Amino acid sequence: MAGVNKNIVILISGSGSNMAAIVETSVTQRWQDRFGARVVAVISNKAGAQGLAWAGEQGIATRALDHTRFGSREAFDAALMAEIDRHEPALVVLAGFMRILTPGFVQHYEGRLVNIHPSLLPAFTGLKTHQRAIDMGCRVAGATVHRVTSELDHGEILDQAVVPVVPGDTAETLAARVLTQEHLIYPRALERLLAA
Ligand code: GAR
Repeated sequence: MAGVNKNIVILISGSGSNMAAIVETSVTQRWQDRFGARVVAVISNKAGAQGLAWAGEQGIATRALDHTRFGSREAFDAALMAEIDRHEPALVVLAGFMRILTPGFVQHYEGRLVNIHPSLLPAFTGLKTHQRAIDMGCRVAGATVHRVTSELDHGEILDQAVVPVVPGDTAETLAARVLTQEHLIYPRALERLLAA
């Protein structure tokens, strides 16, 4: 990936455990020294997102942009883009950012926008992935890191992790098992992009 400063902006909506895993890996794996890469900002569409407070404690710039205060999806995305672009990001990382993005947003960040989805794509795009996997009788489940295109949960697959579905699993127990793997594959996929 060309350029000297590879600023990373992470978008979250909730607990931000993937974001924290990425920030921690960026420090332990010395992304700044090795790639000139740093997580410079964490932005949430929810002011109360737990992850925002954690990011702030790490000295990372944080910002909440409440989507309910905007009249349209386009208006929110325009404001979000303005906020992101202040940081001139090399990568925009969706980490549990629970918003459907407008085509204009996706095009603007083409080649720089990545997401993690809690299923083995192309299976189970959309919501309630774990319950749907259990209901279908899947023996395995997992997570996928992928590039973002204007089609929801499509785009080139960058990494995947597989976990077993075990008898008695609920959506919650399966989600917890998948999440531990998300914390490994998301930083790993980003590191590969930074090194390329
Ligand atoms: C993660 O499981 C992530 O894969 C999922 O939300 C969770 C966020 O957890 N993302 C989606 O469902 C996107 N459609 P986190 O806030 O602790 O990282």
